[in-house]
Amino acid sequence: MTSKKRIFSGIQPTGIIHLGNYFGAIYNWIQLLKKEKDLDVFCCIVDYHALTVFQKPEVLSENIKQLAKLYIACGLDPSRVTIFRQSAVPEHTELAWLLNCITPMAELERMTQYKDKSEQHKSNINAGLFTYPVLMAADILLYDTDFVPVGEDQKQHVELARVIAKKFNNLYGETFKEPGVYVNPVSARLRALDNPEKKMSKSASSEYNYISLTDTPDIVEKKIKKAVTDSGSEIKYGEARPAISNLMTIYSLATEMSIKDIEKKFIGKGYGDFKKSLTEHLVNFLKPIQKKLSAIDDNELEAILKNGGIEARKIASKKVAEVREKIGL
Ligand code: AMP
Ligand code: TRP
Repeated sequence: MTSKKRIFSGIQPTGIIHLGNYFGAIYNWIQLLKKEKDLDVFCCIVDYHALTVFQKPEVLSENIKQLAKLYIACGLDPSRVTIFRQSAVPEHTELAWLLNCITPMAELERMTQYKDKSEQHKSNINAGLFTYPVLMAADILLYDTDFVPVGEDQKQHVELARVIAKKFNNLYGETFKEPGVYVNPVSARLRALDNPEKKMSKSASSEYNYISLTDTPDIVEKKIKKAVTDSGSEIKYGEARPAISNLMTIYSLATEMSIKDIEKKFIGKGYGDFKKSLTEHLVNFLKPIQKKLSAIDDNELEAILKNGGIEARKIASKKVAEVREKIGL
């Protein structure tokens, strides 16, 4: 086992990456890297997970590249972190099968994401959707992960990875580290701009649900203008005001201003002023990411992914060899 602390996380290459993905996940990976110099970070593009919902092949391969570029454009430096595709390391699916055989159906039936997604995709409730958390457990456990930084919706899956690790260790002897979960309380669950009852989501039917990291200034302006607000007109944070509180959270994350200071700044002003300022800050926040994104060369990216896959596989193959031996294969 390693002495450096290791974090592992992943995002599905299923289209746009929105502010929820950024602040719920990527931002925290970067913050953790800044705080702890001696950290091993694995940033995975979980392309196998994406397949639980049908993806057009040519779109999927573009989305994989785009997500890898976004990781880099957001500030994940490939010389410090391992960026790789899940499907480049076959040990992920191999371990997933082995873990499937010790995972109780009842545990999987409890998973709220499975219940939600099967509700959303009634015509394609496939076995992959059901066993999705076991593949995620394999992702995490292969690397002796200490912490998994994710948004609130993934907490239950990381907890299941702990349950599976414990069960395997009990059956076959100490093999897997039980991973911890890291959820940033501020950005754990950004809400949809068009409906604060729901979370910001890639699979939303309307693009007014989210701000994508690649949205142009015009689009950001249009989306913020249309964003739902609460009754009243004050810029005040509170549980009874979920829409404006969500916008204020986004404001705070993009500017690093505290909620209290944002309230002070907008005393006596209305939603119009607030939205105008939020638009400006978001445009400025997205600009450097978009600039970096357009400068990444495709060949360079291929080399980064290839190298990331080789590095990841070195660790994953050792772990799977140990597991096979313990199981008696
Ligand atoms: P996914 O798009 O499902 O692959 O999610 C990638 C990461 O973004 C995971 O860590 C999620 O928990 C996180 N995430 C997704 N939506 C949100 C949201 N609305 N607020 C905060 N985090 C989110
Ligand atoms: N299931 C996660 C999501 O939808 C993505 C994911 C797959 C992941 N494997 C992972 C996240 C391992 C963290 C660690 O967001």
